[in-house]
Amino acid sequence: MIDIIKQKELINAALEVRENAYAPYSNFKVAAALLCADGEIVTGVNIESSSYGLSVCAERNTIAAAVAKGKRDFTAMAVTSRNGVTPCGACRQVIFDICGDIDIVLGDEKGNIQDTTTTKVLLPEAFGQKDLGQE
Ligand code: THU
Repeated sequence: MIDIIKQKELINAALEVRENAYAPYSNFKVAAALLCADGEIVTGVNIESSSYGLSVCAERNTIAAAVAKGKRDFTAMAVTSRNGVTPCGACRQVIFDICGDIDIVLGDEKGNIQDTTTTKVLLPEAFGQKDLGQE
């Protein structure tokens, strides 16, 4: 697990953009901050659609932003929300696919760390690229 200083840095980076989340339907704003292996931090927020099912979580938007910057190796992700929720099932799969087994830090809106975990804990026995015979 990344040290507490790094955990707080990531939580703060996510909190800085959390208000930018577009969540007029749920009013549940979420932001994520992804620590890349090169030390850069990429952030993102959830974006909702009037066609509710098209909404995309902060975690997946953040991963997309990082990949678009050419990032491929990741160390940790912080997720901030009102109460410090854990990533949904869809995001757990995408975190596993793109980031692998990284540290995950969960923070609330005040910046308190509610929990620390890892991809493997959140998604044990994950389906992945190896199952397609492509590893
Ligand atoms: N959401 C996230 O962005 N990340 C999570 O970890 C949980 C849920 C979003 C999706 C939707 O826009 C809103 O929060 C309520 O579910």
